[in-house]
Amino acid sequence: METAEPMTTESDTAFKITRKTDITPAAEREAMLANPGFGRVFTDHMAVVTYTEGKGWHSAEILPRQPLMLDPAASVLHYAQEIFEGMKAYRTPDGSVQLFRPDANARRFRHSAERMAMAQVPEDLFLDAVTQLVKLDKDWVPKPEVGTLYIRPFMIATEAALGVKPASEFKFIVIACAAGEYFSKDAGPVSVWVEERTVRASRGGTGTAKCGGNYAASLTAQMEGKEHGCHQVLFLDAQERRWLEEMGGMNVMMVFEDGTLQTPPLDSGTILHGITRDSLLTLARDRGLKVKEERYAIDQLYGDADSGKLKEVFACGTAAVVTPIGTFKSTEGGCTIGNGQTGEVTSSLRKALCDIQFGRAADPHGWVKKIG
Ligand code: PLP
Ligand code: COI
Repeated sequence: METAEPMTTESDTAFKITRKTDITPAAEREAMLANPGFGRVFTDHMAVVTYTEGKGWHSAEILPRQPLMLDPAASVLHYAQEIFEGMKAYRTPDGSVQLFRPDANARRFRHSAERMAMAQVPEDLFLDAVTQLVKLDKDWVPKPEVGTLYIRPFMIATEAALGVKPASEFKFIVIACAAGEYFSKDAGPVSVWVEERTVRASRGGTGTAKCGGNYAASLTAQMEGKEHGCHQVLFLDAQERRWLEEMGGMNVMMVFEDGTLQTPPLDSGTILHGITRDSLLTLARDRGLKVKEERYAIDQLYGDADSGKLKEVFACGTAAVVTPIGTFKSTEGGCTIGNGQTGEVTSSLRKALCDIQFGRAADPHGWVKKIG
């Protein structure tokens, strides 16, 4: 849907800020931030912008975080017209706060909106909403030793209409929460269930869009994995049920004995274009590692793990950062990667990425954006 709405003016999208009068007291906030886990400790405010067909984006507001009022016929509740993003704000050694590649999230949000026939959020509006919210709730960005502020921009179709069609009204909303480790494993190796029964995405489907439906569809596999003691799920391609695609909420990478870093290619149109994936491939190339974006089959993985050719496997994404995988399990059995511990390439790439994100190292690619 093309929505370079001529009627949207700067004054429509200038954020009106209504501060919460009873903001969380500092001592209470600090206690909540001491050990926040992931996605449960929310900040005081949220950003909301409304889209109406014919009028464009308007009524941009930052206001106290509160429940949404939705008509029970709102399209999102019936036909799942919903997309989201995941990004983080990092506290740097001098106490300031910065974002990592927010422009890439804004671009991917546009791609997701296009695939789901939703209104396009202009990239500067996306970035303004995120920046203003984080500035206002800056005190909620945890200390670096605890974690980050996870930012969740999302868009829902709010038109009250039960006919199946692209909605004419949307809300673009940004909320934020404290984020410690995504896995309750202190960044130690996780175990992964190889899903053989269901698939995450097929060619022509919605795999490259960050839409809620993809995650809903991944949950039965996630449950099955959990029953087998696994933390995450690895999905295979829909056609042959053989080629590694990605995990429920992160991309996957392998390291071989000759030092090559390999990850599944994006040309199948079924894998989310991870920003962490792209950043790690760039950092690996910077270090002179051989990088391959090539298909890799699950039977190859079992064989290479057994022969010792496959040294390390890790998951990567905004929430997961770089999480080593120690074991794979499946109905057939599974395998251990290396000695089941965190590998050297995994930890050094994780460190290189985090050092840039947290402002501890130079940022040669211009990825970070200081916001105060
Ligand atoms: N794949 C899926 C299915 C995801 O949900 C995510 C997380 O956002 C990723 C990959 C990694 O993407 P990114 O590195 O942009 O967070
Ligand atoms: C992210 O990493 O931002 C995601 O959206 C993945 C999800 C598992 C939290």
